[in-house]
Amino acid sequence: MSTANPAALEFLLSRRSRPARTLGLPVPSRDEVALLLAAATRVPDHGKLEPWRFLVLTRPATDRLAALVESRGPVLGIEPEKIAKSASQYSMADLAIAVVQVPRPTEKVPLIEQTYSAGAVCLSLLNAALAQGWGANWLSGWPTYDEVFRREGLGLAPDERVAGLIHIGTPKMDSPDRPRPDPLKLATWVTE
Ligand SMILES: Cc1cc2nc3c(=O)[nH]c(=O)nc-3n(C[C@H](O)[C@H](O)[C@H](O)COP(=O)(O)O)c2cc1C
Repeated sequence: MSTANPAALEFLLSRRSRPARTLGLPVPSRDEVALLLAAATRVPDHGKLEPWRFLVLTRPATDRLAALVESRGPVLGIEPEKIAKSASQYSMADLAIAVVQVPRPTEKVPLIEQTYSAGAVCLSLLNAALAQGWGANWLSGWPTYDEVFRREGLGLAPDERVAGLIHIGTPKMDSPDRPRPDPLKLATWVTE
């Protein structure tokens, strides 16, 4: 039988993200990031396909990505406010880790299960960062759905996708938690 871990359960019952815009320096060191990635990759992975990889984004790469967002936005017809908001997601980031879904074509494991595994990596990375005492936030944003941004900005192959950008840093201000769902309203016990 597994051993109970009340501290881990308490963490899961109280964990919450911090808005990326409130995060600043210091950020995790390379050794701390290595530990976070070790936690992030300890996830369910049907077929042991490892259908994911990471891009650890730091300055000045984040400034380069902000500039690309600013040039791609008008081409895609994105509203100026949305372009500015997305550009600031990158320009304000001291550390963001892109979790990249790398599809492994196989008949044994449907692609959607590989996508779920990539989502699990994102949540584990987020939770590991929170457990290490950092503020962290899982974001996406329209640029991650732009093929040109993915290729030119992040160097992704055509079939690779961004499962999430996990922003990590030190919260510079407090932020309220958000309302949480009532789990009992979401659960149906099936007994026969
Ligand atoms: C796949 C995914 C993408 C998200 N992308 C964004 C985003 O681009 N912008 C945003 O404001 N929130 C986004 N969110 C929501 C944030 O992570 C939000 O801060 C989150 O709901 C906080 O939840 P938590 O406190 O339980 O961690 C995204 C969430 C997920 C799961």
